[in-house]
Amino acid sequence: MTAPEIRTIGVVGLGAMGSGIAQLAIEAGYATVGREVSDDLGERARERIAHFLQRKVDKGTLGVDERAAALDRLSLTTSLADFGRCDLVIEAIVEDLGAKLALFSELETIVRPDAILATNTSALSVTEIAAAVSTSERVVGMHFFNPAPLMPLVEIVQAELSSRAAVDAAYTVGERLGKRPIRCHDTPGFVVNRILIPLVNDCLRVLDEARVSPEDLDTAMTAGAGWPMGPCTLVDLVGIDVHVHASEALYEKLREPRMAPPPRIVAMKNAGLLGRKSGRGFYTYDS
Ligand SMILES: NC(=O)c1ccc[n+]([C@@H]2O[C@H](COP(=O)([O-])OP(=O)(O)OC[C@H]3O[C@@H](n4cnc5c(N)ncnc54)[C@H](O)[C@@H]3O)[C@@H](O)[C@H]2O)c1
Repeated sequence: MTAPEIRTIGVVGLGAMGSGIAQLAIEAGYATVGREVSDDLGERARERIAHFLQRKVDKGTLGVDERAAALDRLSLTTSLADFGRCDLVIEAIVEDLGAKLALFSELETIVRPDAILATNTSALSVTEIAAAVSTSERVVGMHFFNPAPLMPLVEIVQAELSSRAAVDAAYTVGERLGKRPIRCHDTPGFVVNRILIPLVNDCLRVLDEARVSPEDLDTAMTAGAGWPMGPCTLVDLVGIDVHVHASEALYEKLREPRMAPPPRIVAMKNAGLLGRKSGRGFYTYDS
Protein backbone atom coordinates (compact mmCIF):
# COMPACT_ATOMS: atom_id res chain seq x y z
CA MET A 1 0.00 0.00 0.00
CA THR A 2 1.13 3.57 -0.66
CA ALA A 3 0.47 5.91 2.25
CA PRO A 4 -1.19 9.21 1.36
CA GLU A 5 0.44 12.52 2.21
CA ILE A 6 -1.07 13.40 5.58
CA ARG A 7 -2.84 16.76 5.49
CA THR A 8 -6.01 16.15 7.47
CA ILE A 9 -6.15 14.20 10.71
CA GLY A 10 -9.25 12.81 12.39
CA VAL A 11 -9.33 12.17 16.13
CA VAL A 12 -12.12 9.98 17.51
CA GLY A 13 -12.80 10.55 21.21
CA LEU A 14 -11.77 13.90 22.68
CA GLY A 15 -11.24 12.84 26.29
CA ALA A 16 -7.98 13.15 28.20
CA MET A 17 -5.87 11.69 25.38
CA GLY A 18 -7.85 12.62 22.27
CA SER A 19 -8.09 16.29 23.14
CA GLY A 20 -4.32 16.38 23.74
CA ILE A 21 -3.67 14.65 20.41
CA ALA A 22 -6.05 17.05 18.61
CA GLN A 23 -4.20 19.97 20.23
CA LEU A 24 -0.87 18.63 18.93
CA ALA A 25 -2.34 18.18 15.45
CA ILE A 26 -3.73 21.71 15.14
CA GLU A 27 -0.54 23.23 16.56
CA ALA A 28 1.47 21.27 13.97
CA GLY A 29 -0.64 22.78 11.17
CA TYR A 30 -2.92 19.85 10.34
CA ALA A 31 -6.56 20.41 9.51
CA THR A 32 -8.15 18.34 12.26
CA VAL A 33 -11.58 16.79 12.65
CA GLY A 34 -12.49 15.81 16.22
CA ARG A 35 -15.38 13.50 16.97
CA GLU A 36 -17.20 13.12 20.28
CA VAL A 37 -20.44 11.37 21.12
CA SER A 38 -22.25 14.65 21.84
CA ASP A 39 -21.85 18.32 20.84
CA ASP A 40 -21.48 19.18 24.50
CA LEU A 41 -18.48 16.86 25.01
CA GLY A 42 -16.90 18.18 21.80
CA GLU A 43 -17.29 21.78 22.97
CA ARG A 44 -15.79 20.88 26.34
CA ALA A 45 -12.74 19.47 24.56
CA ARG A 46 -12.43 22.62 22.42
CA GLU A 47 -12.54 24.76 25.56
CA ARG A 48 -9.85 22.62 27.19
CA ILE A 49 -7.62 22.94 24.13
CA ALA A 50 -8.26 26.71 23.93
CA HIS A 51 -7.36 27.01 27.62
CA PHE A 52 -4.05 25.13 27.23
CA LEU A 53 -3.14 27.18 24.16
CA GLN A 54 -3.92 30.37 26.11
CA ARG A 55 -1.52 29.22 28.82
CA LYS A 56 1.17 28.93 26.15
CA VAL A 57 0.37 32.46 24.97
CA ASP A 58 0.62 33.71 28.58
CA LYS A 59 4.00 32.01 28.93
CA GLY A 60 5.19 33.60 25.68
CA THR A 61 5.70 30.27 23.85
CA LEU A 62 2.83 30.80 21.38
CA GLY A 63 1.69 33.95 19.56
CA VAL A 64 -1.89 35.23 19.84
CA ASP A 65 -2.35 34.87 16.07
CA GLU A 66 -0.85 31.38 16.06
CA ARG A 67 -3.31 30.34 18.78
CA ALA A 68 -6.24 31.67 16.76
CA ALA A 69 -4.99 29.96 13.59
CA ALA A 70 -4.54 26.65 15.42
CA LEU A 71 -8.08 26.79 16.83
CA ASP A 72 -9.44 27.57 13.36
CA ARG A 73 -7.94 24.30 12.13
CA LEU A 74 -10.12 22.28 14.53
CA SER A 75 -13.57 21.24 13.39
CA LEU A 76 -15.87 19.27 15.64
CA THR A 77 -18.44 16.69 14.70
CA THR A 78 -20.55 13.93 16.16
CA SER A 79 -20.77 12.17 12.80
CA LEU A 80 -18.17 9.73 11.52
CA ALA A 81 -19.11 10.68 7.95
CA ASP A 82 -16.90 13.78 8.36
CA PHE A 83 -13.83 11.51 8.44
CA GLY A 84 -14.21 10.92 4.69
CA ARG A 85 -11.69 13.70 4.06
CA CYS A 86 -9.08 12.48 6.58
CA ASP A 87 -5.73 10.98 5.56
CA LEU A 88 -5.13 9.60 9.04
CA VAL A 89 -7.65 8.86 11.80
CA ILE A 90 -6.38 8.40 15.37
CA GLU A 91 -8.77 6.57 17.68
CA ALA A 92 -8.75 7.54 21.37
CA ILE A 93 -12.10 6.26 22.68
CA VAL A 94 -12.70 4.16 25.79
CA GLU A 95 -10.37 1.20 26.37
CA ASP A 96 -12.89 -1.45 25.36
CA LEU A 97 -12.21 -3.96 22.59
CA GLY A 98 -15.86 -4.26 21.54
CA ALA A 99 -16.24 -0.48 21.23
CA LYS A 100 -13.01 -0.19 19.23
CA LEU A 101 -13.93 -3.07 16.89
CA ALA A 102 -17.33 -1.50 16.20
CA LEU A 103 -15.72 1.88 15.52
CA PHE A 104 -13.02 0.55 13.18
CA SER A 105 -15.47 -1.50 11.14
CA GLU A 106 -17.69 1.57 10.73
CA LEU A 107 -14.69 3.78 9.92
CA GLU A 108 -13.65 1.44 7.11
CA THR A 109 -16.90 2.16 5.30
CA ILE A 110 -16.30 5.92 5.50
CA VAL A 111 -12.60 6.71 5.06
CA ARG A 112 -10.74 6.62 1.74
CA PRO A 113 -9.19 3.23 0.88
CA ASP A 114 -5.66 4.61 1.39
CA ALA A 115 -6.32 6.47 4.67
CA ILE A 116 -4.37 5.23 7.69
CA LEU A 117 -6.16 4.15 10.86
CA ALA A 118 -4.32 4.40 14.18
CA THR A 119 -5.29 3.39 17.69
CA ASN A 120 -3.99 4.97 20.88
CA THR A 121 -4.80 1.86 22.92
CA SER A 122 -2.53 1.21 25.91
CA ALA A 123 -3.36 -2.38 26.72
CA LEU A 124 -5.35 -3.93 23.88
CA SER A 125 -3.80 -5.73 20.94
CA VAL A 126 -3.51 -3.55 17.81
CA THR A 127 -3.63 -6.75 15.74
CA GLU A 128 -6.99 -7.68 17.29
CA ILE A 129 -8.37 -4.18 16.68
CA ALA A 130 -7.13 -4.32 13.07
CA ALA A 131 -9.13 -7.51 12.54
CA ALA A 132 -12.27 -5.34 12.44
CA VAL A 133 -11.30 -4.04 9.01
CA SER A 134 -10.69 -5.96 5.81
CA THR A 135 -7.69 -3.76 4.98
CA SER A 136 -5.71 -4.48 8.15
CA GLU A 137 -2.43 -3.35 6.59
CA ARG A 138 -3.45 0.29 7.09
CA VAL A 139 -3.93 -0.10 10.86
CA VAL A 140 -1.12 0.83 13.27
CA GLY A 141 -0.75 1.83 16.92
CA MET A 142 0.17 5.40 17.87
CA HIS A 143 0.57 5.20 21.63
CA PHE A 144 0.89 8.67 23.13
CA PHE A 145 1.57 9.31 26.81
CA ASN A 146 -0.48 11.41 29.19
CA PRO A 147 -0.56 14.42 28.96
CA ALA A 148 -0.03 14.08 25.21
CA PRO A 149 0.96 17.72 24.58
CA LEU A 150 3.75 17.49 27.18
CA MET A 151 5.10 13.93 27.08
CA PRO A 152 7.68 13.64 24.27
CA LEU A 153 7.33 9.93 23.44
CA VAL A 154 5.00 8.23 20.98
CA GLU A 155 5.29 4.48 20.41
CA ILE A 156 4.55 3.58 16.77
CA VAL A 157 3.24 0.04 16.92
CA GLN A 158 3.47 -2.38 14.03
CA ALA A 159 0.69 -4.95 14.21
CA GLU A 160 0.85 -8.38 12.58
CA LEU A 161 -0.45 -7.11 9.22
CA SER A 162 0.56 -3.41 9.30
CA SER A 163 2.26 -2.27 6.11
CA ARG A 164 5.67 -0.65 6.23
CA ALA A 165 4.16 2.40 4.48
CA ALA A 166 1.51 2.86 7.19
CA VAL A 167 4.09 2.53 9.99
CA ASP A 168 6.44 4.99 8.26
CA ALA A 169 3.62 7.50 7.70
CA ALA A 170 2.59 7.33 11.38
CA TYR A 171 6.23 7.77 12.40
CA THR A 172 6.56 10.87 10.21
CA VAL A 173 3.37 12.34 11.68
CA GLY A 174 4.73 11.64 15.18
CA GLU A 175 7.84 13.65 14.31
CA ARG A 176 5.80 16.49 12.81
CA LEU A 177 3.73 16.60 16.00
CA GLY A 178 7.00 17.39 17.78
CA LYS A 179 7.27 13.96 19.42
CA ARG A 180 10.11 11.48 19.65
CA PRO A 181 8.64 8.40 17.96
CA ILE A 182 10.00 4.90 18.47
CA ARG A 183 9.03 1.79 16.52
CA CYS A 184 7.99 -1.45 18.16
CA HIS A 185 5.90 -4.55 17.53
CA ASP A 186 2.48 -5.29 18.98
CA THR A 187 3.24 -7.01 22.28
CA PRO A 188 1.40 -6.44 25.60
CA GLY A 189 2.37 -3.08 27.13
CA PHE A 190 4.50 -2.24 24.05
CA VAL A 191 7.78 -0.87 25.48
CA VAL A 192 7.27 1.62 28.29
CA ASN A 193 4.35 0.00 30.12
CA ARG A 194 5.87 -3.49 29.73
CA ILE A 195 8.86 -2.25 31.72
CA LEU A 196 7.37 0.43 33.97
CA ILE A 197 4.27 -1.34 35.29
CA PRO A 198 6.01 -4.35 36.90
CA LEU A 199 8.75 -2.03 38.16
CA VAL A 200 6.26 0.26 39.88
CA ASN A 201 4.42 -2.79 41.27
CA ASP A 202 7.72 -4.03 42.75
CA CYS A 203 8.19 -0.61 44.38
CA LEU A 204 4.70 -0.75 45.90
CA ARG A 205 5.29 -4.26 47.26
CA VAL A 206 8.44 -2.98 48.97
CA LEU A 207 6.26 -0.44 50.80
CA ASP A 208 4.84 -3.29 52.86
CA GLU A 209 7.84 -5.63 52.84
CA ALA A 210 10.34 -3.05 54.09
CA ARG A 211 7.76 -1.10 56.09
CA VAL A 212 9.01 2.08 54.44
CA SER A 213 6.75 5.15 54.24
CA PRO A 214 5.59 6.46 50.82
CA GLU A 215 7.72 9.58 51.40
CA ASP A 216 10.83 7.48 52.13
CA LEU A 217 10.19 5.12 49.21
CA ASP A 218 9.93 8.14 46.89
CA THR A 219 13.13 9.58 48.37
CA ALA A 220 14.85 6.20 47.89
CA MET A 221 14.03 6.08 44.19
CA THR A 222 14.69 9.76 43.43
CA ALA A 223 17.85 10.18 45.53
CA GLY A 224 19.16 6.61 45.14
CA ALA A 225 18.14 5.63 41.62
CA GLY A 226 17.88 9.04 39.95
CA TRP A 227 14.19 8.72 39.09
CA PRO A 228 12.68 12.12 38.26
CA MET A 229 9.68 11.30 40.47
CA GLY A 230 9.10 8.66 43.17
CA PRO A 231 6.77 5.70 42.46
CA CYS A 232 4.07 6.79 44.96
CA THR A 233 4.00 10.31 43.50
CA LEU A 234 3.91 8.80 40.00
CA VAL A 235 1.00 6.44 40.70
CA ASP A 236 -0.96 9.23 42.41
CA LEU A 237 -0.42 11.36 39.29
CA VAL A 238 -1.33 8.63 36.79
CA GLY A 239 -4.37 7.60 38.86
CA ILE A 240 -4.43 4.50 41.06
CA ASP A 241 -7.43 3.14 39.10
CA VAL A 242 -5.55 3.62 35.80
CA HIS A 243 -2.46 1.84 37.16
CA VAL A 244 -4.53 -1.06 38.56
CA HIS A 245 -6.39 -1.43 35.27
CA ALA A 246 -3.15 -1.43 33.25
CA SER A 247 -1.55 -3.96 35.64
CA GLU A 248 -4.56 -6.28 35.46
CA ALA A 249 -4.61 -6.07 31.66
CA LEU A 250 -0.92 -6.96 31.42
CA TYR A 251 -1.26 -9.73 34.00
CA GLU A 252 -4.15 -11.23 32.10
CA LYS A 253 -2.05 -11.38 28.94
CA LEU A 254 1.37 -12.35 30.32
CA ARG A 255 0.55 -14.18 33.58
CA GLU A 256 3.74 -12.85 35.14
CA PRO A 257 3.19 -12.34 38.90
CA ARG A 258 5.04 -9.00 38.87
CA MET A 259 2.40 -7.60 36.51
CA ALA A 260 -0.44 -8.22 38.98
CA PRO A 261 -1.41 -5.13 41.00
CA PRO A 262 -0.41 -5.44 44.68
CA PRO A 263 -3.52 -5.99 46.89
CA ARG A 264 -2.86 -2.72 48.71
CA ILE A 265 -3.49 -0.58 45.62
CA VAL A 266 -6.46 -2.67 44.55
CA ALA A 267 -8.00 -1.90 47.96
CA MET A 268 -7.12 1.79 47.55
CA LYS A 269 -8.82 1.83 44.15
CA ASN A 270 -11.94 0.14 45.54
CA ALA A 271 -12.01 2.65 48.40
CA GLY A 272 -11.92 5.60 45.96
CA LEU A 273 -8.38 6.63 46.93
CA LEU A 274 -7.38 7.32 43.34
CA GLY A 275 -4.54 9.79 43.80
CA ARG A 276 -4.50 13.42 42.69
CA LYS A 277 -7.83 13.25 40.85
CA SER A 278 -9.76 12.20 43.99
CA GLY A 279 -7.70 14.39 46.36
CA ARG A 280 -6.23 11.40 48.18
CA GLY A 281 -3.97 8.48 47.29
CA PHE A 282 -0.59 7.84 48.88
CA TYR A 283 -0.61 11.59 49.55
CA THR A 284 -3.35 14.15 50.22
CA TYR A 285 -3.97 16.98 47.73
CA ASP A 286 -5.85 20.25 47.97
CA SER A 287 -8.68 20.30 45.44
N1 LIG B 1 -5.24 8.22 30.07
C1 LIG B 1 -4.02 7.73 29.81
O1 LIG B 1 -3.09 7.85 30.63
C2 LIG B 1 -3.75 7.05 28.50
C3 LIG B 1 -2.45 7.03 27.99
C4 LIG B 1 -2.21 6.43 26.75
C5 LIG B 1 -3.25 5.84 26.05
N2 LIG B 1 -4.52 5.85 26.59
C6 LIG B 1 -5.59 5.23 25.81
O2 LIG B 1 -6.28 6.25 25.11
C7 LIG B 1 -7.66 5.90 24.96
C8 LIG B 1 -8.53 7.00 25.56
O3 LIG B 1 -8.20 7.16 26.92
P1 LIG B 1 -8.60 8.47 27.74
O4 LIG B 1 -7.86 8.40 29.02
O5 LIG B 1 -8.47 9.67 26.86
O6 LIG B 1 -10.15 8.17 28.01
P2 LIG B 1 -11.31 9.25 28.34
O7 LIG B 1 -12.36 8.46 29.03
O8 LIG B 1 -10.75 10.46 28.97
O9 LIG B 1 -11.83 9.67 26.88
C9 LIG B 1 -12.52 8.81 26.03
C10 LIG B 1 -13.50 9.69 25.24
O10 LIG B 1 -14.00 8.94 24.14
C11 LIG B 1 -15.34 9.33 23.94
N3 LIG B 1 -15.96 8.28 23.15
C12 LIG B 1 -16.34 7.04 23.53
N4 LIG B 1 -16.81 6.36 22.45
C13 LIG B 1 -16.73 7.18 21.39
C14 LIG B 1 -17.03 7.06 20.01
N5 LIG B 1 -17.51 5.94 19.49
N6 LIG B 1 -16.79 8.13 19.21
C15 LIG B 1 -16.28 9.27 19.70
N7 LIG B 1 -15.97 9.45 21.01
C16 LIG B 1 -16.17 8.39 21.82
C17 LIG B 1 -15.91 9.49 25.34
O11 LIG B 1 -17.05 10.32 25.32
C18 LIG B 1 -14.71 10.13 26.06
O12 LIG B 1 -14.76 11.55 26.03
C19 LIG B 1 -7.82 4.53 25.62
O13 LIG B 1 -7.68 3.53 24.65
C20 LIG B 1 -6.65 4.49 26.60
O14 LIG B 1 -6.23 3.19 26.91
C21 LIG B 1 -4.80 6.46 27.78
